[in-house]
Parts: sequence; structure tokens; C-alpha cells
Amino acid sequence: MIEQKKDKEHPAVLKPFRLVKFFSYTSIGVVLFTTVVLAWIISNYTTTALLERSKEYTLVLAENLSHQIFQQFVLPLALQNRQIAVQDPRQFEKLDEIVRNATHGVNIKSVTIYSKKENRVSYSTVATRIGQEGLAAEGYKMALADQSSSSFILRGSLLSLVPGSPDVSCIIKTYVPLRKEKPFSAEESVMGVIEIVQDLSHDLEALINLQGTILLTSMVIMAALFVVLSMIVHRADLIIEERARERRRLEEKLSASQRLASLGMMVASVSHEIKNPLGIIHSTAEILGKRIAKVAPGKEHLAAIIIEETARLDGIVREFLDFARPQTPKFKEVAINDILRKISSFMQGDLEKRGIEIRLQLADNLPWIRGDYDLLYQALLNIIVNGAQAMPQGGVVRVATRWEDDKVVVAIADEGGGMAEEELEQLFKPFYTTKNRGTGLGLAIVKNIVEQHDAEITVQSREGQGSLFILNFPLPL
Ligand SMILES: Nc1ncnc2c1ncn2[C@@H]1O[C@H](COP(=O)(O)OP(=O)(O)OP(=O)(O)O)[C@@H](O)[C@H]1O
Ligand SMILES: [Mg+2]
Repeated sequence: MIEQKKDKEHPAVLKPFRLVKFFSYTSIGVVLFTTVVLAWIISNYTTTALLERSKEYTLVLAENLSHQIFQQFVLPLALQNRQIAVQDPRQFEKLDEIVRNATHGVNIKSVTIYSKKENRVSYSTVATRIGQEGLAAEGYKMALADQSSSSFILRGSLLSLVPGSPDVSCIIKTYVPLRKEKPFSAEESVMGVIEIVQDLSHDLEALINLQGTILLTSMVIMAALFVVLSMIVHRADLIIEERARERRRLEEKLSASQRLASLGMMVASVSHEIKNPLGIIHSTAEILGKRIAKVAPGKEHLAAIIIEETARLDGIVREFLDFARPQTPKFKEVAINDILRKISSFMQGDLEKRGIEIRLQLADNLPWIRGDYDLLYQALLNIIVNGAQAMPQGGVVRVATRWEDDKVVVAIADEGGGMAEEELEQLFKPFYTTKNRGTGLGLAIVKNIVEQHDAEITVQSREGQGSLFILNFPLPL
């Protein structure tokens, strides 16, 4: 086939593109990494901000509670000159009411009041703690020194989203002093310590879920971006590859045609110079032939040999000129069937002697095509002659025409020796021949003529199995 030889010699000319691929994959990696780190930093910042605000809020709440207890519980008892005894159910109820009112609607786990001495629980919203000693943590001592404090115990991170990990928990413990306030007392002094425990586990859990969602969303977006980018890269890959192939093909074609052009000029001038002397030798040999018949009868065949050989040389020179100076086609309406019939009747006599038959299977009502009658005659003749030459022992050359969609198809098949893959690749190259007396220009001329007609030619052949040449001619619009 004409275009059989493609890119076997240039398998990888895509280096610049690999750089693009590398660049896009690296950038997606960097973006992914940055997104994860950013999501992590932002969510951690949010967690800390939430905890800090909750701490501040609980401190204010605790201070307020301390003030309320003094105002509504300690002060009235003092005014009545009564002792504070929380174990007294009435006092306990009063205190409980004040605590519950102050913390109403706030997410509080427990409120505990420690006495100043012995670190003992005087009051707690958790009944079982009342009376126990030594429960208070670090902040208790600071509160005794009149310093409020708040701390949190945090357990859980993004990893808590992994199934099977321990539960998330977030506890804020706030300690504020319970003061005797002026003017009831000359000096402000600490009577006890209030502990408020707040459970923010739910908030933290929601926050971690949000972090997970942010991370997952960004990863999904990244993945989608990656897929889109890969598709673009892949498409670009194909386009660039296709362009590189096309460019190489054009370059090869250009250099081949440049070589052929200069070769053609040389061949044309040499052939032209040979043509005239050849004509003279031919006619002189004819005259000589007649003289020899008289002078030395029986030796006429010597002149006949000269005549025959000059005729052959003339044929070769004409072929050279045809190839070197391709004629500009004169397009007309041409009936391919007529050309084939003419070739067949022209060759029949000669071929019969060699035991070769041309069998025509021409389609009825075949549409005409636009072409140059003489050039098409020459091209089809060259193919049929090759087919006949491939069968030195005789055989059948089958010539068929058909009409397919918008094409007229001519198929020429022989029963000759066929060709190997390597031979097929050389087939249309000028001067490629395996014949002693061939120029190797026959099919090169065919190729030129086929191209001039915007037609296509393909060859199917296997060694020892004959050859099939198929020509597709476009129908006029
Ligand atoms: N039908 C065929 N069967 C087998 N081989 C073929 C056939 N047609 C062409 N070839 C091979 O291709 C070569 C080139 O053919 P081409 O017609 O170009 O030149 P040629 O026939 O050798 O010489 P020329 O046609 O100039 O007399 C042939 O020498 C032959 O080896
Ligand atoms: Mg030939």
C-alpha cells in the first residue's frame, strides 16, 4: 500500500509533551497536599477558637453564679444571723434553686461547690458527690488564692473519624472563688470554690465531622480536577502525537519529492538526448535490413535484432520521460469500462501466446468519472502488464469493476508469485524492480496518475498467492 510505511522508525518523539504531563501531575500533587494541610490548619484553628470562647463564657457564667449565690443565699442567711449549713434540706433546696436558675438552658454537666477547708464537696448537682473529699483538681487551689481558672480535657482529632477509634470527648472545668463581698465583709475573702464542668463532646464531634467533610470535599474536588486534567492531557497527547506524525510524513514526502525532482530533471535531459540517436539507429537498421537481404541473404535477423532492441530502448526512454515529466491531466468524462475493454483487446493476442487470459467482469451502468483517458489507460495497462508478467507459466488476470457508495472501484487480480511484506513497502518507489528488463518506473507512474485523479490505490498480496490491486476513483460531485 502507498501509505504502509508509517512510524516504525520514530516510536518516541514526544519528549516536550512528557514535560507537560509531568508538570500537570506534579501540580495536582502539590495542590492536593496544600489543600489537605490548609483544611487541617483551618479546622484546628476553628476548634481552638471554639474552645477558647466556651472557656471565657463559662468563666463569666461561673463568676455570675458566685455573685448570685452570695447575693441570694449567703447574704440573706447572714442577715438573719443564721449559720450556713447546706446539709439542711431547706438551705440545700434554696441553693439548688439558685444554681439551677443561673445555669438554666446552658449545657452544663455539673456544678459543684467545695468548702474552703478540707477540699470537701458541700453542694453538687450530682448528688453522689456531696460530702466527698479530695475531688477537686488543680484549679481548686488557684481559686482559693482568689484566682479564677478554666482548663479543658480534649480527646479526639480527625483520626476519630476512622471506624473503631475511641469516642470524642471535650470537658471544660472552670474554678471560681465563692467570695464574701463588700460591704458585708470589710475585705473580700474566699468562702469556697465553685466548679463548673461543661461537656462539649457533641460540639467537638460536630466540628470533627465538619473537618472531615471539608477534607473529603476538597479531595473529591481534587480528584475531579485530576480526572479532567488527565483527560485534557491525554487528548493533548493524542493531538500532539498526531501532529508530530503528520509533520514527519510531510517532511519525508518533501525530501522524497525534492530528490525525485532533481533526479527527474536529469533523467529527462538524458532520455531526451538518447531519443533522437535512437530514432536514427532504428531507421538506419531498417534500411540495413533491406540491404542485407540482398547482399547476404539469411542474415536479415541481425538487423531485426537491432530494430527490436531499439524499439525496446525507445519504450524505456518513453517511460523515463513519462515519469520525469508527468503530464498535466486533461480531465473529461471517462468510462473506465471502455478503457479496460480496450486494454484487453489490445493485449489479448500477445497474452494468448503466453497462455494468459484476461477475464473481464465489468459492472453494468458504471458511472463515468472525471479523468484523463490516456493517463488512466497507461496506469491500468501498467498494472495489468505487471500481473501478466508475474505469471510466466500462464494463468488468468481478473479485472472487475463495481460501484460502491460514491466510488468507482477497479480490482485487478493475478495468479502470480505475489510479494513479501518488504517488497510491498518498496512497490511504488521509482526504479524498484525485480525484473531483468524492467525500469521499476511502471508503478511509480501509476502512483502519480492515481494521485492526480484524487484516487486511492491499495495492494493485497502474499508470497505465492497472487496479488490484488484495488483502485478507488471518486465520483464527480
Ligand atoms: N502483480 C505483481 N505480482 C508480483 N510482483 C509485482 C506485481 N506488480 C509489481 N510487482 C513487483 O513490483 C516491481 C515494480 O513494478 P513496476 O511496474 O514499478 O516495475 P517493473 O514492472 O519491474 O518495470 P517496468 O514496469 O518499468 O517495466 C516489479 O519488479 C515486481 O517485482
Ligand atoms: Mg511494470
